[in-house]
Amino acid sequence: MNNNQIIKRSPSNIAIVKYWGKHGNQLPNNPSISFTLNNCFTETKVTWKENNLDITTMDFYFEGKENPAFKNKIEKFLNANEQYFTFLKGLDLKIESYNSFPHSSGIASSASSMSALIMCLLAIKYQDKEIDLQEASFLSRLASGSASRSVYPTMTLWGKTPSLPNSSDEYAIPIGDIIHPVFKTYHDTILIVSSKEKSVSSRAGHSLMDSHPMAEMRYATARKNTEDLLTILKNGDLEGFIKIAEEEANQLHDLMATSTPSYTLKEPNTINIINKILEFRKETCLPICYTLDAGPNVHLLYPDSCAEQVHKFIEEELKDYCFENKYINDKV
Ligand code: PMV
Repeated sequence: MNNNQIIKRSPSNIAIVKYWGKHGNQLPNNPSISFTLNNCFTETKVTWKENNLDITTMDFYFEGKENPAFKNKIEKFLNANEQYFTFLKGLDLKIESYNSFPHSSGIASSASSMSALIMCLLAIKYQDKEIDLQEASFLSRLASGSASRSVYPTMTLWGKTPSLPNSSDEYAIPIGDIIHPVFKTYHDTILIVSSKEKSVSSRAGHSLMDSHPMAEMRYATARKNTEDLLTILKNGDLEGFIKIAEEEANQLHDLMATSTPSYTLKEPNTINIINKILEFRKETCLPICYTLDAGPNVHLLYPDSCAEQVHKFIEEELKDYCFENKYINDKV
């Protein structure tokens, strides 16, 4: 931090057990577990000066350009949660944000952008003192649920679950210390199927669950998958991991397809890529699998031990199904 300026980076994350459905002020209807990524991040710079008034003003720039929609979103969030941000009263803020991943890659950026912003705001609050990551996760959650999981490295759990007494619906906790080393070597190659904006915002998506006929079944499955995945992660059980990762991805998309209104976010090349992955796994017995976010892009997950073979497979068999042959190699 130099005089009245702070820069923070925060990564994106990919959920293995998905958060889909919420209540109250951004509380999850089931726990979720994610890998924290490395190369896909947001970098945010906040510059501030005192205005000698009792208000906060803000200018917001995304990738060098003023962005009124984003500014509006942040202002709404700060107003709705003003009791946590009293330290911003009397400041004019200039917020400048950049993503390391291309704007047109269809990758959701709310987790990385909101957690990067919160880290900057807490740096203003604490000045030279260390930021409390639990507070950062709590406030990030209020801005965007999945952002609560981006403040810790490796792997994170958000939401109350019986086997971890320190887990909470209010903030995420790091679980990097309890997982088998193999999971710390995981790669996530994001195969870009479409660069389009998502056709359903996550806010609308979560609210579809309020009246979904299968909601209770879904929350029970996610709770069980969370507990099972924790055991799998401790034991290094790659087969168990594959089963849960793919079941969760498919359930998320099936929930969207069976909600009212219904959404189909997979595209033909999403299915083509998935089929190729399943074929390759059958042929080679390599422990690779896929997961999906609320969009058409496929996240290919694999341990470092098979990275070389998988990279060859991507170049030879998957790249042609990607939008402009684009994919992003990321790692835990
Ligand atoms: O954090 P939100 O409100 O954008 O919701 C994220 C929802 C999913 O990405 C689909 C799942 C997840 O757990 O990240």
